[in-house]
Amino acid sequence: MGKKIKIGGLISGTGTNMDAIIKACEKGEINGEVIFVGSDNPDAKGLEKAAKKGIPTFVINYADIIRKFKQNPENYFFPDDFDLEDIKIKQSLLNREINSKKVATFIETRAIAEAALLKKMKDDPFDLLVLAGFMRNLTPYFIDRINITPGKPRIINIHPALLPSFPGVDGYGDTFRYGCKVGGCTVHFIDYGEDSGPIIGQQCFPITEEDTIESIKQKGLALEYQLYPECIRLFAENRLACVKMTYTDDKGNTRQRTVVKIAQIDIPSSDD
Ligand code: GAR
Repeated sequence: MGKKIKIGGLISGTGTNMDAIIKACEKGEINGEVIFVGSDNPDAKGLEKAAKKGIPTFVINYADIIRKFKQNPENYFFPDDFDLEDIKIKQSLLNREINSKKVATFIETRAIAEAALLKKMKDDPFDLLVLAGFMRNLTPYFIDRINITPGKPRIINIHPALLPSFPGVDGYGDTFRYGCKVGGCTVHFIDYGEDSGPIIGQQCFPITEEDTIESIKQKGLALEYQLYPECIRLFAENRLACVKMTYTDDKGNTRQRTVVKIAQIDIPSSDD
């Protein structure tokens, strides 16, 4: 077995997924260790759970940063390497007008918070950053500073719906309200869009007429606790590769799509 990977975690709430990941590392199901858990929210319950296990935790209070920036933007300095126009070109936000003042403020406040996040994480180099119920969009400013090796993304997220259906903040609720017969969860790499990156794994469950939003959430979470550690295990075993695959569309044109290929055997990483 190769070297244990170092995993950083970001959460916003109860942190039950983070807990499942920490447990899977402790049991040796993932060849890795969680080296920190950070949050945008000082009240995130998951911080306490991680701290009890001796894992360092920290908070970058996004709400506070956003509020204070809006009151006194002149008190804030953008990071030296911040380029709003470059980020606007790359960032893909659902249903939002990219050139509006609102979007500029959105990106600026996130980048200020993200610069603080990056500073916190600088002293704890990690191989993989897992978003486990982290309810903030990451901008290209942050993503580019984590994904430094082309073709080797290393931020992953779990989403409570079968993407690309129901991106956003309430995947299980949206699944229920739409009247779906099946619900599910998705683990994917992060890209510049909202819940749009290459899919690593998905699990699904049936929905009956008796189901409620709460029962759907419970069915979904039970699957999340299996799926997320399983996907992280594959990452730790260096078995995931984002590859461009070609196909022919119905007009005969050659097209490309990105697929996460899962190697069947454990490929040793270069530093093993
Ligand atoms: C989970 O259902 C996760 O899929 C979802 O938040 C919940 C967090 O629960 N994530 C998102 O909606 C991300 N857009 P937890 O804090 O107990 O793990």
